[in-house]
Amino acid sequence: MSKNFYITTPIYYPSGKPHMGHAYSSIVADIFARFKRIEGYNVYFLTGTDEHGQKIQKEAEKNKKKPKIFCDEISETFRSLTKILNLTNNDFIRTTEPRHFKSVNEIWKRLFKSGDIYLDKYTGWYSVSDEAYYDEDEIEEKNGKKVSKSSGSLVEWVEEESYFFKLSAWQDKLLEYYKKNKDFILPNARKNEVISFVEKGLKDLSISRTSFTWGIPVPDNEKHIIYVWLDALTNYLSALNFPDTNSDKYKSFWPADVHIIGKDILRFHAIYWPAFLLAANLPLPKRVFGHGWILSDKKKMSKSLGNILDPIEIIKNYGIDQLRYYLIKEVSLGNDGSISMENLKNCINNDLANNYGNLCQRVFSFIKKNCNNKIPNGNNLNENDLKLIKNVKNHIPSLIDLINKQNLNEYIKKVVTFSFEANKYFNDSEPWVFKKKNPVRMNAILFTIVEQIKNISILLYPIIPISTKKVLNTLNFSDKDILIDNIYKDNILNLDQELKNLDILFKKVEDDN
Ligand code: MSP
Repeated sequence: MSKNFYITTPIYYPSGKPHMGHAYSSIVADIFARFKRIEGYNVYFLTGTDEHGQKIQKEAEKNKKKPKIFCDEISETFRSLTKILNLTNNDFIRTTEPRHFKSVNEIWKRLFKSGDIYLDKYTGWYSVSDEAYYDEDEIEEKNGKKVSKSSGSLVEWVEEESYFFKLSAWQDKLLEYYKKNKDFILPNARKNEVISFVEKGLKDLSISRTSFTWGIPVPDNEKHIIYVWLDALTNYLSALNFPDTNSDKYKSFWPADVHIIGKDILRFHAIYWPAFLLAANLPLPKRVFGHGWILSDKKKMSKSLGNILDPIEIIKNYGIDQLRYYLIKEVSLGNDGSISMENLKNCINNDLANNYGNLCQRVFSFIKKNCNNKIPNGNNLNENDLKLIKNVKNHIPSLIDLINKQNLNEYIKKVVTFSFEANKYFNDSEPWVFKKKNPVRMNAILFTIVEQIKNISILLYPIIPISTKKVLNTLNFSDKDILIDNIYKDNILNLDQELKNLDILFKKVEDDN
């Protein structure tokens, strides 16, 4: 089995400042990337910005800037967000880069050569904000304006010469692929929506525009600009050196293991993208996972509603691990989730400060005081101690399985349970009682609890990497030792070296914060 793993985020429109929705897609992808790395995979994690199209051109005009200069500035804020979110992306692609032009040109040529492209005229509705075409039955009238039923964004009537992609010709092949690859689209409810949409019949797709200029020109007919979604989706290949299909990167990582996206862009990823790839005679990605929306005041965040949550502000106030933990614990990955500052505070205080954080601090200061700051040996573990340790080890295969199905909520629930159980074990075992009368017993308890802290920290590392690294470094674990395998291994704890100091892990949030 290949030990390579390719995961992507959507590439973001640099039309405005990044918001919590963007941060969410990226954090989710980073958690999977980190997990696969500590599982021993060679991971390629891609993110970036989607810079062409009418939406960006209009936004640049509004700001009285040339589109490229406008994109340079905003793309940079997305790039710096990757640092603020502590993402481990291997690459950051911009669709205005030459490597991407090359790749999109090749895709176009392949589709043209296979006979999947023809010239005609598009007459219908278009939403610039969604960069999407809509049928008559997908729009409605609101306050005298025509809007998309699904996104609520304004649509306009378009009549222009356009190249079309023979999407209708791929309908049966797509349905066959969904049938054969049951987990291609997850979660399941989303898959069913896609399948019934395709079953209703696919119309050919307009894949070029002539009414603006900001984009990649169609080869051999430069008055046409390639439709921004055909352009954007190809980024997943551009980053792997496509069209050089002999390059190591391409050979190691294509097809992608999972595209993490929001549910609003599922149609593009689960219908158009595989159809383009089928026509280009390229392998299809293994999975598209459509997460729900982060709601603010129970509504999707948008500039026009003025309810944007700024991740950078929240991180400044509470910390990045805290935000990552909260988003994963409190929002069910496949569904929409409202977030509130009140819940964020409770989550930091209850789960992070009082539970995991407090356990680590208490245990380490006990060892410092009573054991010369060294982890005692675990030669005399009793049944109870072994049961606690084994319970985590026995769960590893099912935890890996949860991650492989992107079931992050069940995963974190399990790990939090381990942490509560470890706390209870420490309280109930009362090592302080044995200090004088039975030091061997005290040592066994301390060894067991440190073993648990180590295991829980490795399992929490993908979600809260900064804090868990601090804990593991205290135990003299180096970063390269943070591996799932080191949960299984006995005798991995360093008993000879003193524990390093651990600063407060999570500050409790007071009400007036
Ligand atoms: N540029 C396209 C994606 C092209 S991928 C080949 C795009 N960009 S976007 O900036 O509008 O959105 C990027 C991602 O952010 C989408 O997955 C979208 O669902 C996600 N989010 C935007 N707002 C969101 C929330 N309020 N909540 C969660 N994610 C949402 O679409």
